[in-house]
Amino acid sequence: MTHARIAGIGSYLPEKVLSNKDLEKMMDTSDEWIRERTGIKRRHIAADDETTGSMALEAARRAIEDAGASLDEIDLIVLGTATPDKVFPSTACIVQRQLGIKGCPAFDVHAACSGFLYGFDLANRYIQTGGARKAVVIGSETLSRITNWEDRGTAVLFGDGAGAVVLEASDEPGVMSTHIHADGEYEELLHVRQGVSIGYDITRKGEAFIEMQGNAVFRRAVATFDKIARETIEDLDGHIDDIDWFVPHQANMRIIQAAAKKLGLPMERVIATVDEHANTSGASIPLALDLAVKEGRIKRGDTLLFAAFGAGFTWGSAMLKY
Ligand code: UT7
Repeated sequence: MTHARIAGIGSYLPEKVLSNKDLEKMMDTSDEWIRERTGIKRRHIAADDETTGSMALEAARRAIEDAGASLDEIDLIVLGTATPDKVFPSTACIVQRQLGIKGCPAFDVHAACSGFLYGFDLANRYIQTGGARKAVVIGSETLSRITNWEDRGTAVLFGDGAGAVVLEASDEPGVMSTHIHADGEYEELLHVRQGVSIGYDITRKGEAFIEMQGNAVFRRAVATFDKIARETIEDLDGHIDDIDWFVPHQANMRIIQAAAKKLGLPMERVIATVDEHANTSGASIPLALDLAVKEGRIKRGDTLLFAAFGAGFTWGSAMLKY
């Protein structure tokens, strides 16, 4: 059987950093509140000329270089994003053009904060079934463009950035299992109510903002990580100690701690970057992964668990040998 393994990783963060102290000057909030409730200290914000596509391009270039792959070997591009550059074409096609690749399938996956994991699951299946041999899976977001800077309940939570991996065909795993899920029941708890088909409120000049019932989403997130934990423990026949590193979606430090506890993993084996990056939605897992690999914490041969939860609701996990 053909397996998929991570051959390379890359990421990109905008230069501009917005600290909690900066936010104190913009709205009625405090560094103390944000750190206590979320663990976030700062976030990166895209410059005016930076887009989801431009950040995705940089992350993809770095991942391809890290994999030692040539551009003509890339035969699939999947980009998880909730903040595409344009209505169409897909941001994946924009990235494909700028990479200088022609012909391979390139498409976006929209699963909010689970977007990277959805793309990872898809690319893994493409590789397993012979549809691709080297796939670039990207998560990239410019959430600052859909942040309501007058709503302290959401504005302090999000950041921009991109991360990417190259998945390649291999005789050995690599990816051991993936699970993705959705339940549309809770649409209104976390959404952007405006859109192309529904329309935009012209009094707001066509702007579209994230709206969230934070506390209800928090409770659903914790409950869902319980399901993810059970699915994972089942995959491992109870051997949770086999996981060297848990790389979760980075929404809130308290959610990450609750998830680690449900898995029975100590925080020493959890990669947490929410303090530095805030919630970058679909970009958060590959961003955290890249940082931990560059810092030398995650090493080749380690067993990793990715897990995400986001709007939809969508959620999922992936277990792999790096
Ligand atoms: O990425 C996928 C999904 N997203 C998430 O998983 C995020 C899930 N939710 C959360 O992380 C948390 O619910 C929040 C961080 C958003 C909020 O934390 P909380 O402990 O659930 O607080 P809360 O919403 O219950 O609000 C508590 C208080 C309220 O004041 P009152 O009504 O108790 O007087 C809020 O008005 O905190 C107030 N508050 C703030 N105060 C200072 C809300 N936002 C802020 C703020 N600064 N930025």
